[in-house]
Amino acid sequence: MPKFGLSTEICFGVEAAEALKPYGGQRALLVTDPYFELNGAAAELLGLFAPESGCFSKVGGEPTVELAAEGASLLRSLQPRLLIALGGGSAIDCAKGMLAVTEAGEQPCFIAIPTTSGTGSEVTSYAILTHGGVKQVLREERLRPNLAILDSRYVRSLPPALVADGGMDALCHGFEALVAKNASPFTEALALQAVKTLFRLLPLAYRGKQEVGQALLTASCMAGIAFDRAGLGACHALAHALGGRFHRPHGRLNALLLPRVVAWHLRCCPGLYAPLVESLGLSSGRALVYALNRLCRELGLPKSLSALKLSREELLGELKPLCRTALADPCSSSDPCSPTEGDYAGILRECL
Ligand SMILES: [Fe+2]
Repeated sequence: MPKFGLSTEICFGVEAAEALKPYGGQRALLVTDPYFELNGAAAELLGLFAPESGCFSKVGGEPTVELAAEGASLLRSLQPRLLIALGGGSAIDCAKGMLAVTEAGEQPCFIAIPTTSGTGSEVTSYAILTHGGVKQVLREERLRPNLAILDSRYVRSLPPALVADGGMDALCHGFEALVAKNASPFTEALALQAVKTLFRLLPLAYRGKQEVGQALLTASCMAGIAFDRAGLGACHALAHALGGRFHRPHGRLNALLLPRVVAWHLRCCPGLYAPLVESLGLSSGRALVYALNRLCRELGLPKSLSALKLSREELLGELKPLCRTALADPCSSSDPCSPTEGDYAGILRECL
């Protein structure tokens, strides 16, 4: 039976952090990255909670299973009433990984405060953790945050390249959710709105216009809700395989793959993106691919894997295992064009 629901409460805007007040004085464990410990945001946040609250601030990059296990032992010993993740998708996913390796049962109230626009992890039941060079996709309902706080005061000011990476990840979530196998009118509405906003605002954010931070957080969150219900597709399956093997940034890989995956989708099913083409005021699917390539150029994103310092030999030497890893990724099963190993090999060769 098709259904749609949203169990994460979302507080957004300038007063959003007020939503933490009712939890004041409780024992909390904060998961964050060293940046927020250094700039004082972690201490300020912890000041709201009980003195015995703790902080796990080792999330420097994309989290590994080992890092989540280390955080989980702190979670078990502290037994907090609140688990708060403050940071980008890595901090939120690390907190999810900590919950995943902890016994199911009474678990803390989970609050996510995203500081970048990208993963949408603040509203999803997904987490990506790396283990042995493979990005593992975890999905469990208990990993979904109970509360998401979208407040631009926490938005981290990032170099333009990282704004582009995160923004293209969110855009990719919107594109894939729009056409994924479990898409519904509800996810379509959210994905369309997210994609329209991201197309318009990403170039401004890239050029340093801080005022668009709140709108981008909202768009990224909407894309997160959409893909959590509708699923993702070939682009994320391939980005996970490449990122796990060659350790290139997730958003950057998605940006490189997305125009090629959309072009392949359009060859399989020419009308697939018709609602988006119409909504962006474009004339055809081809114009959509052109607009995507133009956006990538505007955001200074690499045009090929070689621009990501990945040689032809390295990629071709790993082509088969990469395609197999991508096919085994859960994102492949929600792609509307049911990709084969041959399709994936073709898309990857186009990225050379
Ligand atoms: Fe993503």
